[in-house]
Amino acid sequence: PSVRCLGKERTLGMIKPDGVSGNYTEEIKRIIVDSGFSIVNERLTQLDKETASAFYEEHSSRSFFPDLVSYMTSGPVLAMVLEKRDAVSDWRGLIGPTDAQKAKISHPHSIRALCGKDSQRNCVHGSDSISSAEREIKFFFEDVVSDDIASQHDEL
Ligand code: PPS
Repeated sequence: PSVRCLGKERTLGMIKPDGVSGNYTEEIKRIIVDSGFSIVNERLTQLDKETASAFYEEHSSRSFFPDLVSYMTSGPVLAMVLEKRDAVSDWRGLIGPTDAQKAKISHPHSIRALCGKDSQRNCVHGSDSISSAEREIKFFFEDVVSDDIASQHDEL
C-alpha cells in the first residue's frame, strides 16, 4: 500500500538496540500514541550485518558506517509502521535531532533527549522523506528480514 491514503501518511519508526535493551519501548509507544499516531504494524527483529548494511546503504561511504552497522546488530530493534496526517515530518519532529546530546539542549521533550546518548546511540530512527518511508516500510514489512523475534501483525 502507498504511504499516503485518505489524507494520512505512513512512516517507518524504529526503536534501536539501546532503546529496546534500555526498556524504553513501552514509554516510546505511549508517546507515539499520545501524539496522534496509530501503530499500524510492528516487528521485533534482530538485524544481521547484511540487512543492517542494506538498510543504511546511503551512508556506506561514511567513516562511521562500520560502527553504525555493529551498533545496529548489537541487539533487537522494533520496527513500526506509524500512521497519521504528516507522519513523516511529525515523527522526525518528535524524535528530535540526530545527536542526542544536542537534542537534550535544543529539543528537551524529544524522544532522543529522553533516551539517546549521542549521534550513534540515539534510541530511535525515522524515515527522512516520503520516498524513504516507502522504501523502509517495504524493507521491514515486505522483504524478508531474518531472525524474527515476534510475529508481525497482519494488517498490511
Ligand atoms: S548526516 O551526517 O546528516 O548524514 O547524519 P544523519 O543523516 O543525521 O545520520 C545518519 C545515520 O547515521 C547515524 N550516525 C552515526 N552513527 C555512528 N556514529 C556516528 N558518528 C554517527 N553519526 C550519525 C545516525 O544515528 C543516523 O541514523 P538514523 O537511524 O538514520 O537516525
